[in-house]
Amino acid sequence: MSETVIVSLAERSYPIHIGPGELKRAGSLLKPLVLGPLPVVTDTNVAKIHLANFLLSTEDAGLDARPIVLEPGEGTKSFAGLERLTNELLHTGVGRDGIVVALGGGVIGDLTGLAAGLLKRGIAFAQIPTTLLAQVDSSVGGKTAINTAAGKNLVGLFHQPRIVIADTAVLQTLPRRELLAGYAEVAKYGALGDRAFFEWLEANGAKALDGDNSAMVRAVAHSCRMKADIVARDERETGDRALLNLGHTFGHALEAATGYSDRLLHGEGVAIGMALALQLSVKLGLCPGQDADRFMRHLKRVGLPSSIADVSGPRPSPDVLLEHMAHDKKVKNGRMTFVLVRGIGQAFTTSDVRIDDVRALLSA
Ligand SMILES: NC(=O)c1ccc[n+]([C@@H]2O[C@H](COP(=O)([O-])OP(=O)(O)OC[C@H]3O[C@@H](n4cnc5c(N)ncnc54)[C@H](O)[C@@H]3O)[C@@H](O)[C@H]2O)c1
Ligand SMILES: [Zn+2]
Repeated sequence: MSETVIVSLAERSYPIHIGPGELKRAGSLLKPLVLGPLPVVTDTNVAKIHLANFLLSTEDAGLDARPIVLEPGEGTKSFAGLERLTNELLHTGVGRDGIVVALGGGVIGDLTGLAAGLLKRGIAFAQIPTTLLAQVDSSVGGKTAINTAAGKNLVGLFHQPRIVIADTAVLQTLPRRELLAGYAEVAKYGALGDRAFFEWLEANGAKALDGDNSAMVRAVAHSCRMKADIVARDERETGDRALLNLGHTFGHALEAATGYSDRLLHGEGVAIGMALALQLSVKLGLCPGQDADRFMRHLKRVGLPSSIADVSGPRPSPDVLLEHMAHDKKVKNGRMTFVLVRGIGQAFTTSDVRIDDVRALLSA
């Protein structure tokens, strides 16, 4: 049932192994890449449930794994967290020719990738993503970062992993809300570039979320294939990679307006943001209305939010949202850059969206 997807970047190419039970094979998959001690960075939630299985597999492979267990949550992706982690990594004695494992969600992956990229001017790292968001998005493509007082992900590096091991069975221990938030990024791939995949998700997405392993492997593998293609074409986001930001301008503004709190997870913001991007596309006469309706129907059906009204608590005002968007983006002559669609599966970037049209949409 497992699949392998290759991210093609010449001598920096790497495989993504996807399937239920891949964690048991992690030791043997990593073995050829390891010299000396093997630091494995994780958080307390993941450590409680999955670290023992990982350590069994490294022990079987004769590897000397050295767990480093951090506090869960976005706060760990900070200068303080980076300092602590780099010190702990140095303490393990990992060498320039060694490799560091990130076992966890996007927080652990982003922080560990950055620490590895800085350590001794750059050592190798491996991603073992344990959230759906990390399996389909953050573990693939080499973006690493921490947050600073000025905003999220503002300090980081492009540093590609040497291997990604995505065990779809570990997703069964994720809280449902986190699983759904990751699914928003899966649906994003359909919306931005593959209508047939979106139609497949309409038929199989709910099944994948309810624990059908073979459906989940297909959803993750297809998402990774699409991201790998885009990254291979545009590693440093000078062009096509920006399409992966579909729904994210609105999504980030909603996250900021709700204080990056429990009120809205990143993927939930992206779900609402994609619905808004499709509606904006309809409003501008670029996309058939039925495509926006159909996409929103699918979000609702799997249990994701699809409108600003779905956010709990006081409704974020259009002006506050626009302020966050302007902060995030260049605004020129009252116009902003957005990823819009000509229909489900046909995203494109434009820097010609009038702020007045966005305000009208946010006020509706
Ligand atoms: N590098 C990139 O390209 C990229 C892309 C998208 C997002 N990100 C970053 O990813 C981060 C979000 O990642 P995330 O959504 O994975 O969040 P996360 O890493 O905070 O994980 C979410 C929660 O799930 C827990 N958890 C993880 N795996 C589990 C499992 N199998 N069972 C039970 N609990 C589990 C974690 O401890 C945490 O509490 C953000 O910081 C975001 O900026 C990076
Ligand atoms: Zn995202």
